[in-house]
Amino acid sequence: MYLSLAFVLVSLPFLTAAVPLAESPVSRGIAIPITKRGKPFNGVADTSELLSSVRRSVAKIQTGFTTYERNTGVAHPLSRSIKLFRRGSGGDPLTDFGAKLWYGTISVGTPAVSFTVDFDTGSSDIFLPSPKCGSSCSGHKAYDPNSSSTAQDIFKTFSLAYGDGSTVTGEQFTDVVSIVNLTAKSQTLGAATQYSSGFMSDGFPADGLMGMGFQTISHYNAPPVFQTLISEGVVTSQVFGFKFATSGSELFIGGTNSALYTGSFTWIPLTIEAYWQASFNNISVNGNLVVGSTAAIFDTGTTQIVGDPTGIATLFNSISGAQPAPQFGNGIYTIPCTFDTSISIDVGGKAVSISPASFTLGAVSQDLSTCVAGAFANPSLTGDFWILGDVFLQNVYTAWDVGGGRIGFATLA
Ligand SMILES: *[C@@H]1O[C@H](CO)[C@@H](O)[C@H](O)[C@H]1NC(C)=O
Ligand SMILES: *[C@@H]1O[C@H](CO)[C@@H](O)[C@H](O)[C@H]1NC(C)=O
Ligand SMILES: *[C@@H]1O[C@H](CO)[C@@H](O)[C@H](O)[C@H]1NC(C)=O
Repeated sequence: MYLSLAFVLVSLPFLTAAVPLAESPVSRGIAIPITKRGKPFNGVADTSELLSSVRRSVAKIQTGFTTYERNTGVAHPLSRSIKLFRRGSGGDPLTDFGAKLWYGTISVGTPAVSFTVDFDTGSSDIFLPSPKCGSSCSGHKAYDPNSSSTAQDIFKTFSLAYGDGSTVTGEQFTDVVSIVNLTAKSQTLGAATQYSSGFMSDGFPADGLMGMGFQTISHYNAPPVFQTLISEGVVTSQVFGFKFATSGSELFIGGTNSALYTGSFTWIPLTIEAYWQASFNNISVNGNLVVGSTAAIFDTGTTQIVGDPTGIATLFNSISGAQPAPQFGNGIYTIPCTFDTSISIDVGGKAVSISPASFTLGAVSQDLSTCVAGAFANPSLTGDFWILGDVFLQNVYTAWDVGGGRIGFATLA
């Protein structure tokens, strides 16, 4: 189409100004500030907590594979890529796993009551403590369906098993769930009558968990909150965005927050809609290829980068000063706290640099010279996939496109 120069000149300032108005109000997303709160951090890492969180992530993913098969009748393609080890009896519980997770506020029921939840892309169900939950839920706010005029009992129970044999159990309801002013009118949610050790309030500051994966791994086999917002027509953009940082972290629902990134997104297609699973091209250290193309599960509910023992050993072999540190636990590596090696993960042709600060998880002792590295080996993983958690996600703005079945990466502003 031919546009006269005069038209372009006259229109440009107007078009620029009009951009925000061009979107319909309902397509405009909303931002939810998110926080990460753990125990006070004095520079020394809690290695047992870090190890527990890795085990818990792997166990969570294993559980989701089982659920996937139950929901779809087909085995998840990666279900044979986790070797299960029986845990020894006693000791070593999966405590504190949630201490470093990202959470924010939602409201549930009528009248609306606010709760804090972890926003977890590595699961798909939402649950809160029930008033019937005893000491295992103490310190958390309870969701009482009997006090909500919109709650409906759907007469189903649930039981979410974690790798240490502990479970979160309870009853399923449907009710109104709102994220700021975006309201899912009929959302399946769980009211937990028992929390497992990992969700107890000293280690898990949020009241509950909100899964942001796909329905195929929902233990309720029900649409997750964001999918309900889509099907009820509350959001028109089927995308949510995340920025994780020491401050100004945010979940954006119904699009992405263009103030928080520059340039355009590099998208990679999901291999399967269950977890947020897509392959990275490679990992390089100082520009040299060390790990080739591998499937990855992008998980906001995992702190570290987690891989198989061989792959992780290859990565650390190329990092000067890195050492396996089995004295702190199987799968842990240490690096000098002055670490400044350039590590980059290529996603869809976009090289995401892992900043030294994000890769250094704290010192192993008070002298603050040797630090825990942000990548952990887990013996249950066979090498078919890695888990990319916070240590990766902090370095890039991410867009999670539920409608398009893809995940996007843009440079943080
Ligand atoms: C939510 O609030 C935002 C900001 O006030 C507004 O732009 C948007 O239209 C509201 N959305 C809905 C669904 O009410
Ligand atoms: C709600 O009230 C009914 C009837 O008193 C009771 O049986 C049920 O256990 C209560 N549910 C919860 C979640 O407290
Ligand atoms: C990683 O993959 C990207 C995309 O295929 C490629 O451009 C880049 O050269 C690779 N990096 C290394 C170190 O091989």
